[in-house]
This record gives sequence, structure tokens and C-alpha cells, in this order.
Amino acid sequence: MNWMIRWAGPFPLFIREGHGASVTDVDGHVYLDLCLGDTGSMFGHSPAPVVQALREAVARGITMMLPTEDSIWVGEELARRFRLPHWQVAMTATDANRFALRLAREATGRPKILVANGCYHGTVDEALVSLREGRVIARKGSIGPPVDPSLTTKVIEFNDVSALEAALAPKDVAAVLMEPAMTNCGIVLPEPGYHEALRNLTRRTGTILILDETHTCSAGPAGYTGAHDLTPDIVTLGKPIASGFPAAAYGISQDVAVQTIGKIRAEESDESGIGGTLTGNALAAAAMRATLQHVMTQEAYDRMMPLAERFEAGVADGIRAYGVPWHVARVGVRIEYAFRATPPSNGAEALASKDSLLERYTHLTALNRGILLTPFHNMALVSPYHTAADVDRHSQAFRETVDSLVS
Ligand SMILES: Cc1ncc(COP(=O)(O)O)c(C=O)c1O
Repeated sequence: MNWMIRWAGPFPLFIREGHGASVTDVDGHVYLDLCLGDTGSMFGHSPAPVVQALREAVARGITMMLPTEDSIWVGEELARRFRLPHWQVAMTATDANRFALRLAREATGRPKILVANGCYHGTVDEALVSLREGRVIARKGSIGPPVDPSLTTKVIEFNDVSALEAALAPKDVAAVLMEPAMTNCGIVLPEPGYHEALRNLTRRTGTILILDETHTCSAGPAGYTGAHDLTPDIVTLGKPIASGFPAAAYGISQDVAVQTIGKIRAEESDESGIGGTLTGNALAAAAMRATLQHVMTQEAYDRMMPLAERFEAGVADGIRAYGVPWHVARVGVRIEYAFRATPPSNGAEALASKDSLLERYTHLTALNRGILLTPFHNMALVSPYHTAADVDRHSQAFRETVDSLVS
């Protein structure tokens, strides 16, 4: 896996177990975990209600290829939170995005999709692309790109309303697939008015707006969508939705439902390109239900949010104290510092400030102080299990890292 290759040392840590906000490696070292499985365990490792639900579900049968009642509860709860009436499950966020794109193409009869430069939406072929001097090219490192990506995809810079308008004008784009705030090239926040423009332009051109909330559900129990009152046509979710158990979900509007579900003929539905044998298995539904009911709750966010603010302030203080040209950004309980003085407004700016060697150094110095950051960029997550003392421990370690660089 790529995160093992990109590891700061010669080999990745091998983990014996993870509990709450910590992991223990096979040599017995205990780490304060700020990586949290790159969001899969955003609510801490193995929360008790989810362990209990999985234990009970596994004894009742793992997969029957028939729905259990948990799926009704999960669908109703997601509809309530995200204000989209129809929900479907998938195994991973990648799957959810792939299936959402299929629905968008079916609904619009259009071939192309549009993404933001610097995006990541999982191993979705159409989205493994970059913008280079105005041209759409396959993402560097993408293995065996299937076709010329400019045939399937348009790429624009995030926050660029004129580019968005120009790209949607020919009305050949089925869907815009975006994170509401970018998190995979560092954090890039939407500028004031960007979401209004995105919604207006997609509506005006009959383009479906898919917001990928896989990471931005760090913003609250209904994601960035709920926290900022956005109205996408489709929302995709994954990673922590079942506390890290493989499960994902996507919700669609009534309009998209009419344009897609209504066309499905039972005789032809077997090989639709959506779902798979294990999709919607009983364990996944049980884990999603327990997570939504007991773990991914408003109370949990109420506890996490002040700690995330404290984390951000601790890093900002360290940056200020040493005068390094870095900045720190936050989307709810997701915090990230980057090697440029001001926040980037798009993927190109964010990617230009990447410094792989420096990044490995910051990861290694954290690791040597018993702190685990995500293997990609300088990202940290705060779970309900973290404490103010944990946060302060990171702030201190961060200062020591910067101190070792500048003195
Ligand atoms: C925004 C976003 N969407 C989708 C995915 C894909 O998730 P998964 O690898 O669990 O399929 C990721 C993974 O990092 C992501 O960051």
C-alpha cells in the first residue's frame, strides 16, 4: 500500500493493537494516534458500542445477500442528517463515488465528470487526474491509466468560478465531484461565495453536484454539508461511517432518484455496475447503525471540537514563536499544517508547497516523541478519546521539531 511506501522510516510500524486514541506496535511502544487510520478511526479505535454490535451481528450471520432491519434505521438516519431522501450502501468511499458517478451519467445522459485539481476521491479512474498547463493528464504515479483522461474528465482549480462556468457551459458534464473543502493536497477552504456559485452553476447547466464528505465529515455529524447548509444532489460517505469497518453510503435527491431508480428494470438489474455480492452485508449495516447511533453523535463533536481548536492554536503559536513561513488550517476536527505562509486557494498552490523531505522529517520527529501523524502531509485528527493533555503534548513536540530545524 502506498502509505507504507511513503513511510518516514525504512519500514512502517507494525501494530499489535489500537484502543481509543492510541496504538501499540509489535515492540510494545505506545503512540498517541493522530492519524486514526487516515479518518477510518476518526472516532477512536474500536468504540465499545460498535464492538458490541459487531459481536452480536457476526453471531447472527455475516452475509445473507438480503437486507437486515439495521439498513432501514441507517437509511432513515442518514436522510434526516443530510436531507437527501434515498440512501444506498457501498463497501468503501471509492465505491460510493464510482456508483454516484454512474447514477449521474444515467440521470443526465452526459459522459464527462469534473473534479478539482489536487483532488482525491479514492481509486476512481476518472478522478486520478491532474491539471498541467491547462491540460488534463493522468495523475503522476497512477498505475495503468485506462484511457486518455481528457476523454472522461475536466479539471479546474478549486475556488475558480470562471473556470467552473466555462467548463460547465457545453453541458457535457454529468457531475461535479468535489470535497466541500479540499483535504487531500493539504486543506484548501472554499472562499466566501464559492459554494453558492458552485450550486447555481451546476443547477443552471443541469449538472449533478456530488459532495464527497468522506473526510469533511470532520466538520460535524452531517458533515460540511450540514454545518454550512449546502444542498448537493448527491453526498458520498465512507471511512468512519462504520468506525472503520468496511462500509460506505451515498444519498441522492428525489430528482436523481426519479431519473435513475425509476428506469431500473428487474430483468436487467443483475449487472448494473452498482454494488456487489457483499455490499450491504449484515455486519456493515450493524456497524453503521451503532456508529451513527452511539459514536458519530453531536455529543462526540461537542467534545472533539474545542480540542481541535486547541490543537490548531498550539500549532499556530509554535509557527508564530519561530517565525517559520508555515500556516495551519482546520476543517472541524481535522487539522493540518503546511509549508507556506498563507492558506492556499487551490490545489496547485497547495501542491507547490509540498516538501517531501521536510514532511518525512516532521513525521519522524513526531514518531520519535511517541506521536503518530498521517503518513500523508501533516494531518491530525482529534477523536472523542483525546484529551487536552494529548493536544498539549503534540504542541510541545511540534515546537521541538521546529526548534530543531531553525536553531
Ligand atoms: C475525499 C475522499 N474520498 C474517497 C476516498 C476513498 O476512500 P477509500 O480508500 O476508503 O475507498 C478518500 C480516501 O482517502 C478520500 O480522501
